[in-house]
Amino acid sequence: MYDFTFHNPTKIIFGADTEHQIGPEIKAAGVARVLLLSGQGSAKKSGLLDRVSASLAKAGVAFVALDGVVSNPVLSHARQGVALAKKEAVAAILAVGGGSVLDEAKAIAVGAATDIDLWEFYTGREVTAALPVFSIMTIAATGSEMNKNSVLTNEATKQKYNIASIHVHPRVSILNPVLTHTVPPDYTAYSAVDAITHVLEGYCTKKTGTRLQDRLVESIVKTVMETTDRILENPNHAEARASFMWAATLALNGLTPAGIGPYSFPNHMIEHSLSALYNIPHGAGLAIVVPAWMRWYHGKNPEQFLRFSQELFGLPTPEAGIKALEDWFRQIKAPVRLGEAGIPAGDIPLISENAHGLARQWGIADLYTPAAIAEILQLAI
Ligand code: NZQ
Ligand code: ZN
Repeated sequence: MYDFTFHNPTKIIFGADTEHQIGPEIKAAGVARVLLLSGQGSAKKSGLLDRVSASLAKAGVAFVALDGVVSNPVLSHARQGVALAKKEAVAAILAVGGGSVLDEAKAIAVGAATDIDLWEFYTGREVTAALPVFSIMTIAATGSEMNKNSVLTNEATKQKYNIASIHVHPRVSILNPVLTHTVPPDYTAYSAVDAITHVLEGYCTKKTGTRLQDRLVESIVKTVMETTDRILENPNHAEARASFMWAATLALNGLTPAGIGPYSFPNHMIEHSLSALYNIPHGAGLAIVVPAWMRWYHGKNPEQFLRFSQELFGLPTPEAGIKALEDWFRQIKAPVRLGEAGIPAGDIPLISENAHGLARQWGIADLYTPAAIAEILQLAI
């Protein structure tokens, strides 16, 4: 075990019909007026937004609504949200939707608490304040509901960068797995890849020997794979949707890396360039990057990759385990090659330069030079 600090202040309310509790929770936090943020229409169509509005009204919480957050949320829309939050003098942001809506809610929460331009925080300036954030999740994938991250794309510069601050940890996140039953098969698959990658990044790049954390990761990966298979057979499988949802939350809430020592997030570093440049779903991009990165990297951490293959797939070599993971990505119909997502191999130098910018921001640019990133991407052709 290595020393660590674990501080996760988010209250989770998990279960059927829990969205009705949002009004009283926001009221109890002393907030009288919120910005209600949502996406492209799924929460309206399902009737969820009406139920949330009713809960807020009943609790005496006033709100102003903003919809239209896109998947892979963009700076320009977040800036609109900041202007609206200031104009309407809201005291908190409530996200109703997926990771994209919540990440943009976190961005607006930061921007509304300062006169400094929002993008400065995504390019390195420390966040020192934010309005309180609340969430009701409709898709399980990113872990944003219980973490300090927000990822935003600057459409002008094609940078998909993030902030990481305790100030944007949601105060309360409501997780009703029944709301996720309508998530279509493609996004279910991408979400599975995302949750699995969140735990494998640390697992594959850390030193060997932290067994508790290894077993936590293996348990999350096995649960996500098993429940995804069930959900793809039956989208209304309540137990599978519920276990999947909690597994995805635990996959990026700080639990699994606590005590593992140094680790890095190279697959995300490369993927964020794919979704910044081509606007593909984040999990789809990861399904392309992960097998390629693993083939490039496993020789640098052979014992841990042997464990990965043996424990997760019962296979005797790192190469066999990597192929088994890739085969499963294929089985759930996630793309595993650049071409399958319509990305030309000729763009590899452009992608590598873009990703190197994030590698610098994350302090891993020495290993991940543009040439090294290009080598990895060549394995995804
Ligand atoms: O916009 P609507 O109409 O709501 O449609 C969404 C969207 O098209 C739809 N959807 C959501 N809930 C649904 C539903 N469709 C039917 N039924 C429901 N119940 O699903 C689509 C995808 O939603 P989105 O929020 O984009 O997905 P996700 O939660 O995967 O979020 C992806 C974003 O999060 C970032 C990604 O990079 C990407 O920008 N990430 C955030 C992280 C974090 N904050 O910690 C970590 C991750 O690594 C990731 O980078
Ligand atoms: Zn991710």
